[in-house]
Amino acid sequence: MSILVVGTGYVGTTTALVLAELGWRVTGLDTDDSKIKLLQQGSLPFYEDGLEALLKKHLQSGNIRFTTKTVKAIEQSDLIFICVGTPSQQDGSADLRYVKQVAMDIGRHMNGYKLIVNKSTVPVGTQEKVTRWVLEAQTRTHPFDVASNPEFLREGKALPDAMYPDRVVIGASSDHAAKLLKALYQSLKCPVVITTPKTAELIKYAANAFLATKVSYINELAKLCDKLGINVKEVAQGIGLDPRIGSSFLQAGIGYGGSCFPKDVSALLQTANEHDTELRLLEQVISINRAQHQHLLHKARQRLGTLVHKKIAVLGLAFKPDTDDIREAPAVNIIKSLLDEKAIVSVHDPVAKLPPELVHVSVTPCNTPEQALYGADAVFICTEWKSYQHIDWERIKRYMNDPNIFDGRNMLDARLMAAIGFHYQGIGYQC
Ligand code: UDX
Repeated sequence: MSILVVGTGYVGTTTALVLAELGWRVTGLDTDDSKIKLLQQGSLPFYEDGLEALLKKHLQSGNIRFTTKTVKAIEQSDLIFICVGTPSQQDGSADLRYVKQVAMDIGRHMNGYKLIVNKSTVPVGTQEKVTRWVLEAQTRTHPFDVASNPEFLREGKALPDAMYPDRVVIGASSDHAAKLLKALYQSLKCPVVITTPKTAELIKYAANAFLATKVSYINELAKLCDKLGINVKEVAQGIGLDPRIGSSFLQAGIGYGGSCFPKDVSALLQTANEHDTELRLLEQVISINRAQHQHLLHKARQRLGTLVHKKIAVLGLAFKPDTDDIREAPAVNIIKSLLDEKAIVSVHDPVAKLPPELVHVSVTPCNTPEQALYGADAVFICTEWKSYQHIDWERIKRYMNDPNIFDGRNMLDARLMAAIGFHYQGIGYQC
């Protein structure tokens, strides 16, 4: 089978590389010329551990190539993965214009049977829409199937997640399509769920919304823990050992961000609205998350009296460690609030860059955490980068104007920080 992956963003590039690693011949297609050039030269347009080495390996093995030539790429492929973006629209629903464009391109240029597979996270019913768009665009009748095969990989762990998935979900419209996709993944040792396309589409949203719910649940509990002087980490450990609950996604903090959770929970709500169904739990999950970063600001305001003209060091911009992604990152909202309150901000992140919206006279990007912390009245930890654990906090304390740590990710040892002489507050966690 000759495989085409349309869209060389995060999911597309990872999918293409993992399929190349599994031994398939893969072409990555994108309309963005600069992205394709970069990939052809063996560089990634984003940061992800381990992926660049795989890219170089398979450019050399010949298992992967990249192109901007749509017509030829479609003609030469048997199986086409749609991995283009599905951004949120104003009302929270997913914008399918890029998916539609790809479906129409395939319809127009197909020259024989094609298995078209949606890997982008798309609303329930998209498989039917793609089928319609392909049919509408066809100039000559050719047989095809459209399947749904959602991707569950996490940023920062893309490679292990895609190489060793917990499950593969295949929503197929025919036995033939299911068989082809099963064969594609046969060397992955994991359960395969074969179901209808609609079910597969919902599974993806249901999984992300459930994980987001876990995060908002522990964040709510953390608020109570703060009031009761209880350590939320111990509560999470105590409940997480029950296998029915599970210990993952119970880390309290300043809220979830990224390109998936916020977008997908909103899109699921939107789908429910369209079908006259209220998902009140998920409405709360969203509103809890939107307000979550305010806790850190509130704690700082209480401690410092005011944030006006205070020098605040923000450690971490990315929505989570091991990525340079700042989409929906709580740190961005925190910095915006700090600026509204006339604070002076110094920011460090090991890889993420300050977005244009935060370029401001009162925001100084720093190359090292030490530089950001120099003379600060408080530090806000917004991303739990491992390197922040190795900061010489004892030494740094001497260089801060006022040794206050507001740990939005509960990553430092509260007792140790207090012993050093810091005023330390986490989220539902203090000394
Ligand atoms: C998520 C899903 O995990 C993945 O399966 C899906 O394919 C895409 O969306 P990702 O967005 O990369 O992956 O990040 P993830 O590791 O799930 O974290 C999401 C957000 O939740 C981050 O902002 C993280 O900091 C936050 N989080 C996670 C918590 O606040 N507490 C937790 O316990 C776990």
